[in-house]
Amino acid sequence: MSEHDEVVLAAQGITKRFGGVKALDEAHLEVRAGQVTAVMGENGAGKSTLMKVLAGVYQDYEGRILRNGREAVFANPRQAQEHGVTIIHQELNLIPNLSVAENLFLGREFLDGLGLIDFRRMRREAAALLQRLDLDVDPRTRISTLRVGQQQILEIARALALHARVIIMDEPTSAISEREVDVLFGLIDSLRREGVAIVYISHKMDEVFRIADRITIMRDGRTVGSAPRAALSHDGVVRMMVGRDLKDFFVQTPTARGSEVLRVQEICLPHPDRVGDFLVKDISFSVARGEVLGLFGLMGAGRSELFETIFGLHARTASGQVFLEGREVRLSSCAEAIAAGLALVPEDRKRQGLMMDMSVAASISLASLAQVERFGFLSDRRERALAGDFGQRLRIRAVSHRQPVKHLSGGNQQKVVLAKWLATRPRVLLLDEPTRGIDVNAKNQIYRLIHELATAGLAIVVVSSELPEIIALAHRIIVLSEGRQTAEFSRAQATEESILKAALPRSLSSSRPPSSSGAATR
Ligand SMILES: Nc1ncnc2c1ncn2[C@@H]1O[C@H](COP(=O)(O)OP(=O)(O)OP(=O)(O)O)[C@@H](O)[C@H]1O
Ligand SMILES: [Mg+2]
Repeated sequence: MSEHDEVVLAAQGITKRFGGVKALDEAHLEVRAGQVTAVMGENGAGKSTLMKVLAGVYQDYEGRILRNGREAVFANPRQAQEHGVTIIHQELNLIPNLSVAENLFLGREFLDGLGLIDFRRMRREAAALLQRLDLDVDPRTRISTLRVGQQQILEIARALALHARVIIMDEPTSAISEREVDVLFGLIDSLRREGVAIVYISHKMDEVFRIADRITIMRDGRTVGSAPRAALSHDGVVRMMVGRDLKDFFVQTPTARGSEVLRVQEICLPHPDRVGDFLVKDISFSVARGEVLGLFGLMGAGRSELFETIFGLHARTASGQVFLEGREVRLSSCAEAIAAGLALVPEDRKRQGLMMDMSVAASISLASLAQVERFGFLSDRRERALAGDFGQRLRIRAVSHRQPVKHLSGGNQQKVVLAKWLATRPRVLLLDEPTRGIDVNAKNQIYRLIHELATAGLAIVVVSSELPEIIALAHRIIVLSEGRQTAEFSRAQATEESILKAALPRSLSSSRPPSSSGAATR
């Protein structure tokens, strides 16, 4: 057997329980050197749990792990690393108050001749890694000032710094843009040539079909299939994931433009460091009852900042006007925004959306306390009713309403964030990447729910970096590039090519034709 298809890591008959929940039920997986093994499955299928078993995060499981054919027991992630196995987790794990360089070499700091931390060498090595990943940040930058996408790339850089032979990537592209996906895929290619084995988890079918050598499919904690990519079709994979044919795909409802609900005028947000530069510049638009407005932009286009500004989170530095049903409102806090009828589902659920130790029910009712509070007490019954209602509508998979959010699978956590904001019964719903980490089946349910809400009279603005999603969802699309509005399309006019062209930064749009991106060629 050549070095380039040898099974270097295998899981055999892995069963893992969390209390009464069987998260894995005799799951198995084979990982080969020099290959990308993709693992697919619905939210809660057990993908992350299996990866954590392989990476030494969990020790209390049944079954065996084989590393290079020999049984291995990893007492902790560090031991797995010593055996050349490392994992990039689905949730970001960087330390916000440390610098980029410190995070990259955490626990493995370089020491100088006197035994002191050699910061210069760390910065130098960090800079080299960042360059390999095409990430334009100073190694001295504090993590807390970086956006989610940049942090995700740093997680990848950290795995590279470990020189691992098996790299597990749990949804590495959920928060990065097309251009960074290209960079990452280039990197995966070179790792593959060096004989590194990659395990790649993603809900994005086109990505998986572009990068994977083999695809393994999981359902309800079991491995239900595994085959070379060339032997599988999209439909076949979906069928194995959900255990039946998927009919009944989301079909968009026609626009029924009602009266205007939200109008913003000349919204500007200055760059915090660079004087005279803007993160958001002169954005104006309006949304009507029943309308879904799509905002498309690559990472760094100012999408999230625009939402934050409308929501009153940058009241001190931003300028521009916000009108609700024709009347100007001046929002200067989250509470004021909620009271005015706005809801913002943020992109970074761990930092802004959820308290991880809270129960599912408490998380859902958190932003709408007025509805569950009676006589100053939190009504448990009402809290449960609220959680039950939205839990069902969004099909949140949890053992009970009392389960802490941190024990849900990533996709189900995202659904809790959505439920929390829907429970505030808003007039305007701002959704920032609402289906990040959501499986194909649940995505459809969320699209349908968004349209139900619009039909019921909400005005909805959706930010997404997935072109097919924006085109499927939005009645009208505005494109942002470098903080500015560069185009507006009706649904009839919009094509992937035209949107992407408007989204590319000026410096790139001349040198890089849109057809070189995966999104545009599909
Ligand atoms: N620490 C935990 N405590 C209790 N239950 C857990 C814990 N971690 C995971 N689970 C449960 O195990 C099951 C599998 O979860 P897992 O995170 O592996 O799913 P996944 O396939 O990665 O899903 P996603 O695509 O949403 O990330 C889920 O039902 C989840 O609620
Ligand atoms: Mg997961």
